[in-house]
Amino acid sequence: MTSSALMNNYGTRKLTLTKGDGSWVWDDQGNRYLDAISGIAVCGLGHAHPTVTKAIADQAATLSHCSNLFNIKAQETLAERLIDISGLSKLFFSNSGAEANEAAIKLARLFGHSKDIDEPAIIVMQNSFHGRTLATLTATGNRKVHAGFEPLVRGFVRAPFNDLEAIKTIATNNKNVIAVLVEPIQGEGGIRVPDEGYLPGLRQICDEQDWLFMLDEIQTSNGRTGRYFNYQHYDFLPDVVTTAKGLGNGVPIGACLAGEKAAELMQPGSHGSTFGGNPLACAAGLATVETIINENLCEKAESMGNYLQQQLGKQLEGCESVVDIRGQGLMLAVELNTPCAGLVDKAAKKGLLINVTAESVIRLLPTLNLTTDEADQLVNLLSEVIKQGL
Ligand SMILES: Cc1ncc(COP(=O)(O)O)c(C=O)c1O
Repeated sequence: MTSSALMNNYGTRKLTLTKGDGSWVWDDQGNRYLDAISGIAVCGLGHAHPTVTKAIADQAATLSHCSNLFNIKAQETLAERLIDISGLSKLFFSNSGAEANEAAIKLARLFGHSKDIDEPAIIVMQNSFHGRTLATLTATGNRKVHAGFEPLVRGFVRAPFNDLEAIKTIATNNKNVIAVLVEPIQGEGGIRVPDEGYLPGLRQICDEQDWLFMLDEIQTSNGRTGRYFNYQHYDFLPDVVTTAKGLGNGVPIGACLAGEKAAELMQPGSHGSTFGGNPLACAAGLATVETIINENLCEKAESMGNYLQQQLGKQLEGCESVVDIRGQGLMLAVELNTPCAGLVDKAAKKGLLINVTAESVIRLLPTLNLTTDEADQLVNLLSEVIKQGL
């Protein structure tokens, strides 16, 4: 049972997980589960990865925290590594995805004011998810996330996802717009992959309008979709990119990266965080990033994602409840023709952890180093659960 000492914002949770190893977790009753959620796209390297565990233990035994009043070697090394990988110029470290997006929103506002726009506005998408702070929940395109928290923050304009014409219309009508903030694949919104031309098209409009092109890669980065950052599937650089989730393999850390157009906007005193980029989080981040690169986990995510889509397609062929199987890399969805939150418990009873988002979308976010044998077990168990139904 969930303790009554906790606020009820997560509702009642049924399982108590006590141990993890690679793609597997155990509950307090000793039951073992194949983890196809990875802490919602966080533990990309799997649970208790020895390289990350050692980095955390070594750093904790040396210096966990000292604040940003001081230089932090691990922070600088991780920043330089991420800048090298991303092709961007500078970054700010946060503790979460929402905070990384807050930094992006603040950059956009600074950019707007630098152009003498008093009420700068950011285009955000319907069906999006950007976090739970007041600015990021306002940016989120989901009424349920807003409900009860009004008044919302000013300065956001909403457009339909995957619709370039809508953005062009806003460009004509609203001269306060200074940026676009978009997930390259909508995650919480149901693993919505846009048309191939959408992100390059947005890049082009942002160039024409002198807007910042800002990608929320909280869920899609750190190898998840088959490249380190999702935009690396394309031939452009964004102006701002946010990352978090898989960056620390379970240790809270996020970052807001900026290219030339936005990298110099922050000045001493304009932003900060007590914990952001502390030695412990950055040691975990550095170990995670190096492991993703050294173990070719982006490439593995791409090929294992293709394999999973293929196998799910075969096993679920002719299954009437299945509307679509989609995704990129190891950010996958099986969409059903009916709300299916009830399948989460049914899958857990069979030893498989899945997540349902957007009511009828089974979301799969397994570890980036999932083996073929584990992938086969995932497909078999999930297909059984879907075929048995609710
Ligand atoms: C695309 C995206 N942005 C932002 C967030 C918020 O991240 P956090 O929960 O770490 O604040 C999430 C979390 O699910 C996300 O998927």
